[in-house]
Amino acid sequence: MTGPLVVLVGPMGVGKSTVGQLLAERLGVSYRDTDDDIVAAQGRTIAEIFVDEGEPAFRAIEKQAVRQALAEHDGVLALGGGAILDADTRALLAGQRVVYLSMDVEEAVKRTGLNAARPLLAVNPRKQWRELMEARRHLYEEVATAVVATDGRTPEEVTQVALDAL
Ligand code: S3P
Repeated sequence: MTGPLVVLVGPMGVGKSTVGQLLAERLGVSYRDTDDDIVAAQGRTIAEIFVDEGEPAFRAIEKQAVRQALAEHDGVLALGGGAILDADTRALLAGQRVVYLSMDVEEAVKRTGLNAARPLLAVNPRKQWRELMEARRHLYEEVATAVVATDGRTPEEVTQVALDAL
């Protein structure tokens, strides 16, 4: 199997970067995050890209960033929450070890609240979360080789459950 040791997917705010960094430490490998790659390459925040160019343009940038990271990185790789919307990206994940960090809608609302830095939650976060989860849950499940529920768990606990699931 080539590519990252572990790929983390799941909704924004679920703790992919916190858990990803803990997981990388425990495994003795490096951590990479496609959102960070995009911000570094574009010299703009994700929110600025959404505002300047719209979501479809962001998704095209994201798709390339994911492809590149999957080819280059051999540690823990976290993908942006919406990366799995792209069918080619999902196909690229076949054969990878993919951990889906899940949470329920109420947990999502509690964790992210009204977060202006996250353009998809700008208004009525509870309704938007419900719609997001309905549209995406099956896509996360489709690519996942393991599912780790994060509700009521600390990042350290989630990391341990993820390690046990690998
Ligand atoms: C998004 C998730 C974000 C970021 C962008 C869109 C999404 O990443 O890529 O705001 O569509 O769920 P995180 O999951 O790292 O917050």
